[in-house]
Amino acid sequence: MNPSRLLARTRKHAIKALTPAVQAVTYELLFRHGQDKLFSKLVRAREIFSGKLIRLEASSVCQLRCPACSISRWRKRGGATKDGEGGVIGWGLLRYQDFARLLKENPAIRTVELSNWGEIFLNPELIPIMRLAHERGVKLRAVNGVNFNRVSEETLRALVDYRFGPITVSIDGATHESYKRYRRVMRHIRYLERYKDSQGARDPKLTWQFIVFGHNEHEIELARELAAELKMNFRAKLNHTPGYSPVQDPAQVRALIGGPASREEFFQQKRRAYSRPCTQLWTSPQINWDGKLLGCWATLATSSRQG
Ligand SMILES: C[S@@+](CC[C@H](N)C(=O)[O-])C[C@H]1O[C@@H](n2cnc3c(N)ncnc32)[C@H](O)[C@@H]1O
Ligand code: SF4
Repeated sequence: MNPSRLLARTRKHAIKALTPAVQAVTYELLFRHGQDKLFSKLVRAREIFSGKLIRLEASSVCQLRCPACSISRWRKRGGATKDGEGGVIGWGLLRYQDFARLLKENPAIRTVELSNWGEIFLNPELIPIMRLAHERGVKLRAVNGVNFNRVSEETLRALVDYRFGPITVSIDGATHESYKRYRRVMRHIRYLERYKDSQGARDPKLTWQFIVFGHNEHEIELARELAAELKMNFRAKLNHTPGYSPVQDPAQVRALIGGPASREEFFQQKRRAYSRPCTQLWTSPQINWDGKLLGCWATLATSSRQG
């Protein structure tokens, strides 16, 4: 293995190993000991090395209606409508002009997470957005998730050409419908990987995120094998909506994912929530596609403007 690859791999493993410890320390500092000043100093120190990180939703629009997705349930309740009325998120797309202005006025921003509640690939201006970020040395990423169903070959090539950062691809479900969907996603992933190889590129790095439900728990191993074949990382995630398709065989799931089979079990074992209270307001503030400052990703059904 060449030295730069070895360095990148070591860095990746170190980040993976250290992340839970850093999260635990920041949680303790901020929420248990009220050390917000010290916490802010740590954030500033990190920013000196890696620049500012913000979260800016590229599209709150999504073409799918996954049954246990918070926002699709929320839409059905009438929280956000297609004309953008209601709810704080609304239904819309980040405009290139707004993105360009944001980068111009905030040169300290070095990383932008584009995904929050919708599907970033539905934004027709995504390619110019990626090109501009690349020219300005700003790393884009979609670690929160993409469904990767609708993405053109031109966009797939742009992801490589403009060295997009890490992407989490949400692939779960085992019904006939989702299987059809899944094959299309596979085609996009294979195309992207082939193009990466042809360009000698390492980015973007893809992670297969598999939410474990009762209806797909028997596919965990298959998904993991496919992820390896596609050179993707694999991550099993616990369902946040226990009323929808709960795990049927917890012992088997525990063995397959090497940990608790549900969020409730996670809490019983570790005496803390699966999702900790988030610190994004301080570390990576969330901005809506229309410029509203939301604070954190979870701000959803409030009508108050925060900034
Ligand atoms: C609302 S989605 C938006 C991003 C993109 N459309 C996607 O599906 O990845 C944000 C994240 O919520 C996750 N998600 C959806 N339903 C979930 C569930 N029932 N339990 C846990 N996570 C869920 C998705 O997999 C994704 O990582
Ligand atoms: S693809 Fe993502 S945003 Fe769209 S409905 Fe499914 S989980 Fe929700």
